[in-house]
Amino acid sequence: MTATLGQTVEPESNSADALVRLDAVSKVFGKGDDQHRALSDVDLDIRRGEIFAVIGYSGAGKSTLVRLINGLERVSSGTVTVDGVDITSLSGKPLRAIRRRIGMIFQQFNLMRSRTVFGNVAYPLQLAGLSRAEQEDRVAELLSFVGLLDKAWAYPEELSGGQKQRVGIARALASEPDLLLADESTSALDPETTRDVLALLRRVNEELGITIVVITHEMDVVRTIADRVAVLDAGRVVEVGAVRDILGAPQAETTQRFVAATVGNRPDAGRLQQLRDTYDDTLVTVAVSDERAFGSVLSAAARDHGVDFEIVYGGITDLKHESLGSFTLALRGPDAGVRATVEALNAAGIVEGTKR
Ligand SMILES: Nc1ncnc2c1ncn2[C@@H]1O[C@H](COP(=O)(O)OP(=O)(O)OP(=O)(O)O)[C@@H](O)[C@H]1O
Ligand SMILES: [Mg+2]
Repeated sequence: MTATLGQTVEPESNSADALVRLDAVSKVFGKGDDQHRALSDVDLDIRRGEIFAVIGYSGAGKSTLVRLINGLERVSSGTVTVDGVDITSLSGKPLRAIRRRIGMIFQQFNLMRSRTVFGNVAYPLQLAGLSRAEQEDRVAELLSFVGLLDKAWAYPEELSGGQKQRVGIARALASEPDLLLADESTSALDPETTRDVLALLRRVNEELGITIVVITHEMDVVRTIADRVAVLDAGRVVEVGAVRDILGAPQAETTQRFVAATVGNRPDAGRLQQLRDTYDDTLVTVAVSDERAFGSVLSAAARDHGVDFEIVYGGITDLKHESLGSFTLALRGPDAGVRATVEALNAAGIVEGTKR
């Protein structure tokens, strides 16, 4: 666990609140010399009611992970448990029963072009054997939830990308799932439409109580919607935790790259070198989740050690429920005082790196 100022310590997860649990999961594609290990020894708990994000670069194994959770792909070793049931040993009817409780949305929407919006959303209901009247009621309810009641008789090609994804979400909700898997569900959308779709996913989570797993390669998506995040790199989970902790103090190198690309308030290597060339002082980068505590540590440091500071880089980033600051400070004063100030910031658990 990483520490940032003002952080609340979360209870360790236990199996009781885990809706999905992966234990030592590995997935190898191919045989013999042509083997490719897509996932290695993945342990994850996805808690009931949360929005859990999985972030990683292309080829990291994100889609494979999703396909293992909904039983479309089988593990090479390890177990996947959904709501207490080990699905790795299931097939046929019991597996289909579990899969009905898992909804899925896709990057390319995967709508049927020959069917209207109504026809697409009604499809799973039709398969489940609902009468035409029941289908109509349920589809009307779903389309009004996603704000597309007036498009019921339109065909997919007549819709914008954002509207298509809303239809995808309505279709995924039709069978009243407990879990929604969203694989790059906003990657084909522009930033504004992305925000709308993410807001809709939040309503799905908050109003319908559905647990959501969001797969993405964008930290901005994680930042705006997720409670917790796992960082996947070459098939391994390199970091997992609350979004504020991961963004506040990323540990793994991959995570640091994702965070730097998103949270514009953190200087990248080039910018840091520039700052070092400009400032003769000791530079420290500090993650702040509690501005008042940060202020009091700094003012005490200045008062007790005669150290002056200047903010040379930084800003505030909004998360789902809170905000997170990162400030790079130039510390100026007697050497011993600067050291003591860095120690005081360190003791508060908020220093990320000290660069002289
Ligand atoms: N059916 C398959 N057969 C062989 N190799 C596969 C198969 N599916 C995935 N892989 C390989 O496993 C690795 C992980 O693929 P995966 O699709 O899970 O990555 P991803 O993180 O979803 O990437 P992207 O961001 O590009 O969607 C890749 O190297 C991929 O080539
Ligand atoms: Mg993928």
